[in-house]
Amino acid sequence: MSEPDQRRTQRAVRQLLESWQRAGVTHVKQVEQTASVAIVPAEEPSAPSTVSTPNASTAPVETDPQETVAAAVTPSQIQQEPEDSRKDMSVPRTTKSKLNKGDRQEQLDIVAAEVSQCQKCPELASTRTQTVFGVGNPRAKIMFVGEAPGADEDKQGEPFVGRAGKLLDKIIEACQMKRSEIYIANILRCRPPGNRNPSDQEAANCRGYLDAQIEIVDPDYIVCWGSVAAKNLLHSELPIGKMRGKFYEYGRARVLCTYHPSYLLRNPSAKKNVWDDMIYLFQDMGIDLKATQK
Ligand code: URA
Repeated sequence: MSEPDQRRTQRAVRQLLESWQRAGVTHVKQVEQTASVAIVPAEEPSAPSTVSTPNASTAPVETDPQETVAAAVTPSQIQQEPEDSRKDMSVPRTTKSKLNKGDRQEQLDIVAAEVSQCQKCPELASTRTQTVFGVGNPRAKIMFVGEAPGADEDKQGEPFVGRAGKLLDKIIEACQMKRSEIYIANILRCRPPGNRNPSDQEAANCRGYLDAQIEIVDPDYIVCWGSVAAKNLLHSELPIGKMRGKFYEYGRARVLCTYHPSYLLRNPSAKKNVWDDMIYLFQDMGIDLKATQK
């Protein structure tokens, strides 16, 4: 990028972040279910549900036994958010970004530099080793959103590098993809002490950064891993088991919610559900994952 272009880019990213901050945007409205498959009511998180995705097959993620597809019920609607000043804010990006990979990376680097100095959450800023911004292809078709860095991520500065990350890597591999093809970020960019859940305030403080990443990467699909990601991105109070099995909209992206890899480590039988979710996601992209497993 030439120097004037670079300055323009920097200005644009800064203006984007500032305008959202000025507008008090911490979450973005407008969540719409755009497609659905039938789901069985699921208890979260101890009793995972089974998605009755058409022709759902075995789960190669692990060697769980085939589960019987249970009777279906109508999918639940996401809860409406209360009336507030953000009501009329629309999701920033509704048209496809024309930026090339290099330009997007430069924009991401600018936001990452800002994040590295962030002091919005005093407790997190004083306990973190470093911020964990995000990693992956700046022009990814698929973006993953997790919860927050854990101890390993805090040490290494990269999302999903601990045990949950290793499992996520296996899922990515089962989907015939490489980690480097995806963009991976979290709701928070700092580790909450003791791996506690992010507070609403912390999630709100970090939201502008996540939205900037989504805006810049401009993915076609977002996968929310776990209830913290789903709840915060989509502004929903539904349990993750009820959010699975259908697409939501976030700007230009279609959003799918599924169980967090850490949950799968504690509940291996839910891997089957996540595999069904991956089949559903890739089916929407025109890829038959089941065929790739034969
Ligand atoms: N869990 C998450 O949600 N994100 C990470 O980066 C690591 C573990």
